[in-house]
Amino acid sequence: MSAFKEKYGPWAVIAGASEGLGAAFTRALAQRGLNVIPVARRSDLLEILSNEVRQEYGVQVKPLVLDLASSDVLEQISKETDDLEVGLMVYNVGLSLIGTFLHRTIEDHETILNTNCRTQLLFTHHYGLKMKERGKGGIIILSSLAGFQGTAMVAHYAATKAYNRVLAEGLWDELKPYGVDVLSACAGATATPNYLNSEPKKLNPMAPPVMSAQSVVEESLKALGKKPIHITGFWNRIASFFMHRLFSRKGAVSTFSKSTREMYEEDYG
Ligand SMILES: NC(=O)c1ccc[n+]([C@@H]2O[C@H](COP(=O)([O-])OP(=O)(O)OC[C@H]3O[C@@H](n4cnc5c(N)ncnc54)[C@H](OP(=O)(O)O)[C@@H]3O)[C@@H](O)[C@H]2O)c1
Repeated sequence: MSAFKEKYGPWAVIAGASEGLGAAFTRALAQRGLNVIPVARRSDLLEILSNEVRQEYGVQVKPLVLDLASSDVLEQISKETDDLEVGLMVYNVGLSLIGTFLHRTIEDHETILNTNCRTQLLFTHHYGLKMKERGKGGIIILSSLAGFQGTAMVAHYAATKAYNRVLAEGLWDELKPYGVDVLSACAGATATPNYLNSEPKKLNPMAPPVMSAQSVVEESLKALGKKPIHITGFWNRIASFFMHRLFSRKGAVSTFSKSTREMYEEDYG
């Protein structure tokens, strides 16, 4: 625990943290002794999480109410965190607006792009520079199994998840000599409020089991510093192996798309 704190402390920013995986990262990092800066829009949820974490783990918590899709997001976060030593940045938020590509407005797509890619780029560059100067730190970027191939009903979201993963992989190699660990954590279905609220149906009986947020987080933190990407969950790794090593590209796209259509087409088509 203290080696983790030494390498990735004293402060961690968790972007998208009022619930789900971000809240689980906040708890797990506080448990490892890091002071945490959970970022989200809903101040009430952030306040509840912050009080819980302070009481449970005795670390400092600085909740930040911020819209990660906003154009001045870097100025806002810099103002609040530049006097703190941020040794770990978890870019967790990933906006997924389910539905066919053309069913969504171009404004919806721009919000997805800003939330999942633009702000992730800004934060990674901003905190990455400071970590490189200090010669230590870590960056975790959440991606998804959806980011390994194009997928109907979530086509743009899946494309942003590929962006997240590929950027993290390149930075894993570039920043390693400076003592900065970068990881793309690729999750499969995880029981977060966001996932459960999408009310997925008719899950393929062959689909890997839905994971808990805590398991995804613990696996990701264990993998940080060891490799560029980690697919969370044994069954997700097996599914990914079959899909990407044994299936044709056409087969992988069709299989994933069939599955998302079955889950969502009736409600979001
Ligand atoms: N859950 C899954 O099944 C699954 C599967 C594969 C990959 N992933 C990846 O895992 C990551 C986390 O997923 P998740 O299910 O926990 O849900 P999520 O919707 O990505 O994240 C939810 C958190 O982000 C915050 N948030 C959303 N939009 C925001 C914005 N514009 N500004 C600030 N905060 C914002 C939410 O709080 P507020 O609403 O309070 O702002 C909430 O705390 C994502 O990158 C996703 O792609 C998830």
